[in-house]
Amino acid sequence: MRYLTVALAKGRLAAKAMEMFEKIGLSCEEMKDENTRKLIFTDEETKIRYFLSKPSDVPTYVEYGAADMGIVGLDTILEEERKLFEVLDLNVGKCRMCVCGPAEMADKLKHHELIRVATKYPKIATDYFFNKKKQTVEIIKLNGSVELAPIVGLSEVIVDIVETGATLRENGLEVLEEICPLSARMIVNQVSMKMEQERISKIIKEMRGVIK
Ligand code: PRP
Repeated sequence: MRYLTVALAKGRLAAKAMEMFEKIGLSCEEMKDENTRKLIFTDEETKIRYFLSKPSDVPTYVEYGAADMGIVGLDTILEEERKLFEVLDLNVGKCRMCVCGPAEMADKLKHHELIRVATKYPKIATDYFFNKKKQTVEIIKLNGSVELAPIVGLSEVIVDIVETGATLRENGLEVLEEICPLSARMIVNQVSMKMEQERISKIIKEMRGVIK
């Protein structure tokens, strides 16, 4: 039997996903060692390999078939626009993609003034403003700590993930518009879905049973 390879987005999602895999009998002892520098973990019993990667790389590994399946946030799936099957909403890692900024920017947004939008998600922001709202804006790509942008005057607003809202509150910003709800998804390579149909369908079916 060939190994099935699973790509997990590094961080909180990976831990939650492994908890769910464990509930359906797919555990991986090797992965539990917190001090390990290994990049890939194999479970011989189930013939499944797991690896952790930067969230934005998970859809790439899955599209090219280097991973048969992956667990990653919908934000990354929407931003990466890769050819793959999104098969399951795991109902964890729930948060929202929002337009945020200082309260006084609400009017500028409403009146379609030309504003700058800083974001780690330029495709999502472009799609929202240009296609859905028919509003022309300037998109500025950042790689993290996006909340800084309106504070130091790089942009009027940001498009970013809001989970608890604590980061916004502590920085004098608020949600101005909601773009879409987000959560962790299971994704599958399009060829693997056919070649490994039996094993993958079984995993999807059993995972469905442990989703809260
Ligand atoms: C994410 C997001 C917000 C924050 C939202 O950042 O970009 O900054 O979490 O969470 P909250 O609503 O619970 O405060 P992350 O920690 O992934 O780091 P980043 O700023 O480098 O993107």
